[in-house]
Amino acid sequence: MAEMPFVDTDIEDECTMHATSELSIKKKRKRTTGREIEEGIERQKKKNKQYQPNYFISLPITNPKITGSIQAVQDAIIQKDQRLSKAMVRSGSLHVTMLVMHLSSEEEISIAVGALSDSKVFVDDLLKGKRVDLSFQGIDHFRNQVGFVNLAENDHTTLLKEIAETMRKIFQEKGIMAGEERAFKPHLTFMKLSKSTELRKQD
Ligand code: C5P
Repeated sequence: MAEMPFVDTDIEDECTMHATSELSIKKKRKRTTGREIEEGIERQKKKNKQYQPNYFISLPITNPKITGSIQAVQDAIIQKDQRLSKAMVRSGSLHVTMLVMHLSSEEEISIAVGALSDSKVFVDDLLKGKRVDLSFQGIDHFRNQVGFVNLAENDHTTLLKEIAETMRKIFQEKGIMAGEERAFKPHLTFMKLSKSTELRKQD
């Protein structure tokens, strides 16, 4: 489990949507000034930011065949535009995220550590001694902000999704704010514009 550099996560879009829909309900009840709307949006943004994921569980990707291919893709992109070098995920940080969560105290961190240990027996049960072989195939992006390699759809990825889902349930049952509203989509991120404020401005 590692702390996330998540100050600028990309869930801002979703936050803004929530803020807008709540405000439209308010508007029906009483007249609202432009300033009140602005303040409401800011309040909502702050509230959503409070619960942004700050810890995650992931599988490190260290196989040199995979990391080497990723590096080749990154190099090709940088050749086209040198500025994008700042957006690249370092080879030692390549991972597939299994679960994100928000932990706000030492106590919650301990509970999460306990949940991770508890997960082992359930994960073993799903694996039944089998190996999960992850194959990577094709490049895609999230909202032109995050570049990633897809996982090939096969029985192994189905099993990976089951493991992630089981872990999410275990963490949630312990009261941890784990998982996201969006469906789990296993992927391997190799670049993200959020690594550079300059690049984010130019999107
Ligand atoms: O989990 P990972 O480190 O690969 O995530 C990289 C970025 O992709 C994060 O900012 C995350 O919010 C974003 N993401 C996304 N949509 C998803 C999964 C991740 O925008 N379905």
